Amino acid sequence: MANNKSVIIKIKRQNTPTSKSYWEEFSVPYRPNMNVISALMDIAAEPSTRDGKATTPITYDSNCLEEVCGSCAMLINGKARMACSALIDSLEQPIRLEPFSKFPVVRDLATDRSVIFENLKAVKAWVPIDGTYDLGAGPRMSAEEQEAAYPISRCISCTCCMEACPQFNEDTGFVGAATIAQVRLFNTHPTGKALQRERLTALMGDGGIQECGYAQNCVEVCPKDIPLTKSISEVSGQVMKQALGDLLRR
Ligand code: SF4
Ligand code: SF4
Ligand code: FES
Repeated sequence: MANNKSVIIKIKRQNTPTSKSYWEEFSVPYRPNMNVISALMDIAAEPSTRDGKATTPITYDSNCLEEVCGSCAMLINGKARMACSALIDSLEQPIRLEPFSKFPVVRDLATDRSVIFENLKAVKAWVPIDGTYDLGAGPRMSAEEQEAAYPISRCISCTCCMEACPQFNEDTGFVGAATIAQVRLFNTHPTGKALQRERLTALMGDGGIQECGYAQNCVEVCPKDIPLTKSISEVSGQVMKQALGDLLRR
């Protein structure tokens, strides 16, 4: 728990994508209700280590500061989570901050997590309404359909689920739980389902849904409580049904 004078933070730093990492320790004044981002801001205002050595401000991503943009994800005391909603009072000290381990480091705590957007593109995670003419009103969704879709639509692309997943690595090329959940979301949308076949085809083969070992780490770390394992089961059923249908039609 935080004491009422200072917060001790150890940060794993790295100056360039290819340089060696190193640790620095900082001490910042404690204030009630501070979170990890506010502590990083304090370090930026006066960048010197706990033993008084001048250093550079820590590089990290953040934007909304209210767990909506998904940018501030990092390892906090070894767990994948959002820095803006990680309250100092709830963390063991010294607090350890590290960049995600499964993504290339850009600098310090900032990582390149663009792979999630490539994966979302691969499964066409959108509603196809592009066109140069007025398509008219889309089909209506019932209240029940909207209620089922809403929890999945809250994904903030933070990649915590991918960092925590034992199957998300270079060997498998696994797309990860977030992408599969978005397949479920867009396959249930009345207009989005037009691309269902292409989405499911993209999840077959290398790096596809069969790589999931149902370890359930993803659902435990998701900051938005997205029903990831339920989504994986449902999409897995859709993939199997399509594959079987294709086989029987041959
Ligand atoms: S259930 Fe396990 S293997 Fe599957 S996506 Fe989640 S963490 Fe990864
Ligand atoms: S499913 Fe959850 S953990 Fe994964 S990217 Fe979306 S919000 Fe983050
Ligand atoms: S700063 Fe946007 S989620 Fe943390």
